[in-house]
Amino acid sequence: MLSVTDLQKTYSSGDEALKGVSLDVTGNETVSMIGPSGAGKSTFIRCVNRLTEPTGGSVELDGLEITGLSGGELRDARRDMGMIFQEYNLIERLTVMENVLSGRLGYVSTWDAFRRKFAGDDIARAYEVLDRVGLKGHEDNRADELSGGQRQRVGIARAILQRPKILLVDEPTSSLDPETSRAVMDLLTEIAAEDDIPVLINIHEVDLAVEYADRVVGLRDGQKVFEGDPPDLDETAKGQIYRGEEIPEGAGPAGKVVAADAPGEAVTEEGDLRST
Ligand SMILES: Nc1ncnc2c1ncn2[C@@H]1O[C@H](COP(=O)(O)OP(=O)(O)OP(=O)(O)O)[C@@H](O)[C@H]1O
Ligand SMILES: [Mg+2]
Repeated sequence: MLSVTDLQKTYSSGDEALKGVSLDVTGNETVSMIGPSGAGKSTFIRCVNRLTEPTGGSVELDGLEITGLSGGELRDARRDMGMIFQEYNLIERLTVMENVLSGRLGYVSTWDAFRRKFAGDDIARAYEVLDRVGLKGHEDNRADELSGGQRQRVGIARAILQRPKILLVDEPTSSLDPETSRAVMDLLTEIAAEDDIPVLINIHEVDLAVEYADRVVGLRDGQKVFEGDPPDLDETAKGQIYRGEEIPEGAGPAGKVVAADAPGEAVTEEGDLRST
């Protein structure tokens, strides 16, 4: 399970991208993170796996504190987090198979490491994983020959090859048409269920966020302003997330910010804002 507490990031430019965001993601749940452009969604995911260095707070994965790790320990911890990106981050001139295997290297890939590393086991498993994401028969295609949907499937295959403990997904569907987007979301939630791992997805399309998530988190201006069940994301809540509207006194359950592991019990900092 992922447990993030009071995560902060101030870029050297002075931009306060995260102003203390806490979030738990557990079991095999799918959590969608929504919010306007610049809310801090990508920064959040990047701070979790330390592609970006947080300036405060704590990130624990399965009880291991990720902040403060370096070298081999950080590499190992990152292998436990499968990252999937909007722009796929494939190596264009390599084949589908080579791109998928590059996931075994974690985030530090060199050609030498690449050549030395792969045992027959890895390759056999890569075939399996490619079959699973629907790319059987495409192993030897170059990445630059694929459609957007296929490219994202390669990204997903690469992420799951390393048997991660969680999937961190940043805008997986932004470059895809609606039908392909749904196929990708289907695949991600299927993996969560079958591999029994949680998935955290940053996503712009609110409809998809609601349809596929077990829980929705709304970020605005570096703060968590909503957390709840998808049906609670009504117009009031959306107004709060996307337009910074205050929640009216006596509003129903919508827009309620609750602690993830203790629904209805704790009033978080954000909850306090609600009554002001
Ligand atoms: N490398 C960076 N250096 C300085 N500021 C940055 C950097 N990356 C992001 N920011 C700033 O941090 C804030 C949050 O950006 P972030 O990319 O996390 O938002 P986002 O919610 O992912 O937005 P989008 O929906 O457009 O992807 C913004 O104000 C952005 O300008
Ligand atoms: Mg982003």
